Amino acid sequence: ATVTYDFNVTWVTSNPDGAFERPTIGINNQWPVPRISADIGDNVVVHVTNQLGNQSTSLHFHGLFMNGSTHMDGPAQVSQCGIPPGSSFTYNFTINQPGTYWYHSHTGGQYPDGLRGPLVVHDPESPFLGRYDEELVLTVSDWYHDQMADMLPTFINKGNPTGAEPVPQAALFNDTQNLKVAVEPGKTYLFRMINIGAFAGQYVWFEGHNMTIVEVDGVYHQPAEAEMIYISAAQRCSFMVTTKNETTANYAFVASMDTTLFDTIPEGLNYNVTGWLVYDDAKTLPEPTLVDELDPFDDMTLVPNDNQTLLGEPDKIIELDVIMDNLDDGANYAFFNNITYKAPKVPTLYTALSAGELATDPTVYGDFTHSFVLEKGEIVQIIVNNLDSGRHPFHLHGHHFQALYRSVEEGGTFEDAKLTEADYPAIPMRRDTLVLYPDGNIVLRFRADNPGVWLFHCHIEWHVSSGLIATMVEAPLDLQNTISIPSDHLEACAAQNIATVGN
Ligand code: C2O
Repeated sequence: ATVTYDFNVTWVTSNPDGAFERPTIGINNQWPVPRISADIGDNVVVHVTNQLGNQSTSLHFHGLFMNGSTHMDGPAQVSQCGIPPGSSFTYNFTINQPGTYWYHSHTGGQYPDGLRGPLVVHDPESPFLGRYDEELVLTVSDWYHDQMADMLPTFINKGNPTGAEPVPQAALFNDTQNLKVAVEPGKTYLFRMINIGAFAGQYVWFEGHNMTIVEVDGVYHQPAEAEMIYISAAQRCSFMVTTKNETTANYAFVASMDTTLFDTIPEGLNYNVTGWLVYDDAKTLPEPTLVDELDPFDDMTLVPNDNQTLLGEPDKIIELDVIMDNLDDGANYAFFNNITYKAPKVPTLYTALSAGELATDPTVYGDFTHSFVLEKGEIVQIIVNNLDSGRHPFHLHGHHFQALYRSVEEGGTFEDAKLTEADYPAIPMRRDTLVLYPDGNIVLRFRADNPGVWLFHCHIEWHVSSGLIATMVEAPLDLQNTISIPSDHLEACAAQNIATVGN
């Protein structure tokens, strides 16, 4: 079937934490923004009209492979030009993956202003159908009182040499601080949890109830019991919760922002948000008791249901060192190796389409895009070494990667783990976003089976702005034969006087 959405992107006013009213980016004059729902196999059409007036925009459908439609992936200056104010632009793609995703603006630090929402793909063949009675979408996010357009210049300013990221004012469940989930006794609920935040990872737990994890980032897993999970910005985790057999009390569930990410913790910051499983409306909503240890489930131990085994040894190894540094100009930048990403004027995809044979030469994309050209079908390994003291949730567009290794959190200085094939699990877990710990490393592997231009980046929106991005240009010569850019996409460039010749 075809599912169609008309999204007029507009400024609205909202006050989700009850403490501060601010302009937020809504859709069709509403915020929270609508959910995109589809069945596996559906064709999804999203007509976007940018009515913001003062900002360009774009939508990325996070976690979807966009197989055969890399030009629908959404990042501005990568697979399209930003949609100028007053213009319309259509995304049209087929979904062949089940599970829990989200969509968000992928233009210049914009999504924390509100343009981010759930995207759920139902699967009539889900191995977990019949094991739960009802499903619910549960977003969690940090929330800022200021607008990104006001915070970004200060953040990337020359007077911010440490690169201290603005600390959010609040955390939200489903874009509110007053979430009550009515439940019935003796039932099992599937919670599709999505961290749609800009910065903070979240520790999440339910008082008096266990979580049974069955899906992360669109990959079904052998069910795993957890008392607490950690979900970084952009990650998803679906878990089942079975309710108690009696209705004698209501129960709190909590998300707690990972304050280790914050350079300072402002006085009075409430870094927790509470929601409630409401068994009985007439009974009190208890305040959660504080936990003394944040000890979340280790997602590296998850085993995918399809038992996909470790990919063979890599044909290509990309090693990236994460460095936060200032270039003696007083401003802080994020680097992969010696490159801090800057968006090109012409979208990288359009360059790939128009460069002829030269498209396989990474230098045509400009050094500042930090492009790697991948050959069709080859096995690619990305090693990320964290020479920084912060956590970074790394996301790859267009793929699930196998997560082969992650160093445990120890603190100290970076040491190379010197791994061999024997160190990797036989059936690695897969996802599209993985947290890298301070001073440690991660090893990821995937097959380049999806021609396209795909970003690899830290999903902390501040670090996107300060350059922690590389570009994977996958099988560009294939793209030249298969992708043709629709005219509304070309017009978005023309409206900004960006030439897109030769396509
Ligand atoms: Cu949700 Cu480039 O990512």
